[in-house]
Amino acid sequence: MSTYIKDLEWRYATKKFDSTKKINSEDLDKLLKSVQLSASSYGMQPYKILVIEDPEIKEKLKPAAWGQPQITDSSHLIVFANYKTIDEKYVDSYIENISEIRGIAIENLAGLKDKLIDSIVKLPAEAQNTWAQKQAYLALGNLLSAAASFKIDTCPMEGFDAGKFDEVLGLQEKGLTTSVIATAGYRSEEDPAQDAKKVRKSKEQLFELI
Ligand SMILES: Cc1cc2nc3c(=O)[nH]c(=O)nc-3n(C[C@H](O)[C@H](O)[C@H](O)COP(=O)(O)O)c2cc1C
Repeated sequence: MSTYIKDLEWRYATKKFDSTKKINSEDLDKLLKSVQLSASSYGMQPYKILVIEDPEIKEKLKPAAWGQPQITDSSHLIVFANYKTIDEKYVDSYIENISEIRGIAIENLAGLKDKLIDSIVKLPAEAQNTWAQKQAYLALGNLLSAAASFKIDTCPMEGFDAGKFDEVLGLQEKGLTTSVIATAGYRSEEDPAQDAKKVRKSKEQLFELI
């Protein structure tokens, strides 16, 4: 079987982390690089990702995440926060980045700018937020798979109060809101969840080959 599939079978939503084990900076860099390389709609990456190691901040956030122990026991808490609105200024800074990296004159990117304004900037605010949140979830997916390949354990989490996270992390003033979070570190040998069989739909239920 491929190593990739084995890694995905190895991973599970870790409930109990070994709080004595920390992700070293080299592994953390690889993990963050994988997230940085995530695909996103139009390549706009409409999010900011907070990588929290500070125990005091984690302690403050724990009650806002239903008291889930992974928040404080894991090595790092990763908060995916999406931009709530995508305005022309945001598009301009993206265009500038393309221009710089690919050496294309800004005026030659005018067509792309118009397209981004038409398809994203003109969306109603709520739709922009939803679109941006979807992109953040893709980055989360990448984090989970990449971490598994580096033998780093993770737990993706929706069990938290986004308003409280935004408040503690000062996200509102930056135009951001918490979309989804994940914890990363190393499983405790005592976590019974690691022995549970994976529950997934059968191939027939899940796929329709047409
Ligand atoms: C978006 C998302 C949110 C989740 N939220 C939580 C959570 O708040 N707490 C938790 O312990 N597990 C959470 N899970 C873990 C799922 O329950 C778990 O991924 C699923 O049951 C499949 O099991 P596995 O990941 O161990 O294979 C979440 C998973 C995802 C993808």
